[in-house]
Amino acid sequence: MGQTLTEKILDDHLVEGDLQTGEEIGIEIDQVLTQDTTGTMVWLQFEAMGLDEVQTEIAAQYCDHQTYQFDFKNTDDHRFLRSAAGTYGAHFSRPGNGICHNVHRENFAAPGKTLLGSDSHTPTPGGLGELAIGAGGIDVTVAMGGAPYYIEMPEVVNVRLEGELPDWATAKDVILELLRRLTVKGGVGKILEYTGPGVETLTAPERMTITNMGTELGATSSIFPTDEQTEDYLERVGRGGEYVPLQPDDDAEYDDEIVVDLSDLEPLIAEPSMPDKVVPVSEVAGTDVDQVIVGSCTNGAYEDVLPAAKMLEGREVNKKTEMIVAPGSKQASELLARQGWVAEMMAAGVNFSEATCGACIGIGHVPASDSVSVRTFNRNFEGRSGIEDDNVYLCSPEVAAAAALKGEIVDPRDLSDELGDLEAPGFELAEEYDASKADLITPDEAVDDELVKGPNIGEVPLRDGIDEDIAGEVLLKMDDNITTDHIIPATQDILMYRSNIDKLSEFTLSRVDETFADRAAEADGGVLLAGENYGQGSSREHAAMCPMHLGVEAVLAQSFARIHRANLFNFGIVPLVIDEDAYDGIDQGDEVEIVEDVESGVSEGRSEFTVTVNGDEEYTATLDASQRERDILAAGGKLSWTKAQAEEGG
Ligand code: F3S
Repeated sequence: MGQTLTEKILDDHLVEGDLQTGEEIGIEIDQVLTQDTTGTMVWLQFEAMGLDEVQTEIAAQYCDHQTYQFDFKNTDDHRFLRSAAGTYGAHFSRPGNGICHNVHRENFAAPGKTLLGSDSHTPTPGGLGELAIGAGGIDVTVAMGGAPYYIEMPEVVNVRLEGELPDWATAKDVILELLRRLTVKGGVGKILEYTGPGVETLTAPERMTITNMGTELGATSSIFPTDEQTEDYLERVGRGGEYVPLQPDDDAEYDDEIVVDLSDLEPLIAEPSMPDKVVPVSEVAGTDVDQVIVGSCTNGAYEDVLPAAKMLEGREVNKKTEMIVAPGSKQASELLARQGWVAEMMAAGVNFSEATCGACIGIGHVPASDSVSVRTFNRNFEGRSGIEDDNVYLCSPEVAAAAALKGEIVDPRDLSDELGDLEAPGFELAEEYDASKADLITPDEAVDDELVKGPNIGEVPLRDGIDEDIAGEVLLKMDDNITTDHIIPATQDILMYRSNIDKLSEFTLSRVDETFADRAAEADGGVLLAGENYGQGSSREHAAMCPMHLGVEAVLAQSFARIHRANLFNFGIVPLVIDEDAYDGIDQGDEVEIVEDVESGVSEGRSEFTVTVNGDEEYTATLDASQRERDILAAGGKLSWTKAQAEEGG
């Protein structure tokens, strides 16, 4: 039987296990990336493990999430990150140089390689044929030290593209259409592999918009085959020599197939406040728009900003709307500036911003309360923009620019008819991506050779094993689809403490219940209760680290999002799956006990545990985990486990 492209790359990197769906496999990692919110812990953990030097072909540290310096804390972190990259042999991308995924794809992403990143949108270079997976920081630390990355072999789904995109429909509409059909849970446990005649009609950057936002489907990764489009892009970024032809075998068998006819697509938009609430733009046309932002790792590349710039050329942003363009990388800004597009956009009334994540996580350009913001981003979870009563819509740069011109949501095809001279801008690559590399410091150019830790750099939290019995209060009962943004918000006032877990923990779950951290500290631990898809969204391991620091021993949920589930193991919190009856039968404030030798049960492979509620009712909770995950949990987390292993090994 032939192999899928995913299987071919995994096979090339396989160090343990068989490529059977659901089996745990260990794979070699060629490249790692980390960013500033997750990176400080990555390097503190690297230091705590006593490792000397990065072992992967490429390790890259980006500073993109919190580049605005409000006081010393972000600067402290960035200085520490530069010193860590220099000390251990990683590339360092300075604050302002751009978003990790954009800078990585421009400089390092390569077909056939594996990439592990401590950011959930790490799968972006799947559009170039790289198998890229998002993970928790500690997983990246361990991979960077040369150890394999372990993962359950996902299902491989064939997303067959047919036809060709019509005018005004874009790559963003391809992924919005998939979100409309499959929802934010539709990709869980799956790698989406794109095939079919529609693939060759999409350029590599368009493919990377699609693979980037596969994360919103919950997919482990998304990947395209390579072809002339891939080679063309690599040549334009000056890395043509890294091209490798990669295709699935003709007789490859997939676990499932989804067909998307590109010719049927039209401009789509995700309504507030979930990326899968997708409707045709025409359905919400007429909604007044207060703010428009073009940018982010999904649609912030040169090729994404250019269509919006063309639409704005010689026109003006509507007086009732504010428009911001924040390119995904300084390379994009530099090219747009050299070609005169920055001036055109400024003349049209655009506020041109630094290349940063910024507004995507509520840092800068926070919308006015109860206003409408139309963005080209990938996520619109409630409150992520920096204000709770936000109304954030997600769409393509074309739909965003049309909204800015009209002052209300409008199907760009209708606006084109109305204005008479507004043509579909199309999708165009730069002749050559010949921007400066001044903000990228290679290991050879390192300016530090020892760690520099300012007062904002704290200690790595450690849990020393798990308790024999779990007994405590249900500290919080939560609904479905709780995000890591709910657990640890990413806004500036909170995430500036990302390297200081003692302080950051005070904000744990504050967006769900402001009293949570105080109650958890007072109760000295307890358990959390949640519905489906607990922990979706960002990869930030602080969403497990802070509950651990507050003494949370277990999470009972109907299901877990992949990266967060791994992070719970990595920080010694027992992730137990319960059914709907148990979820309905347990309430906040109930006393729960799991008293059947939890520690030995975890270590010895028991999958069912009895949860006694208020000393009376009993429910079954399931621990579905590999032996390796069980050992990590029993050790109190991955750092304790890795250190113990290193000691055993002498
Ligand atoms: Fe940054 Fe938002 Fe992407 S936070 S990495 S631009 S999802």
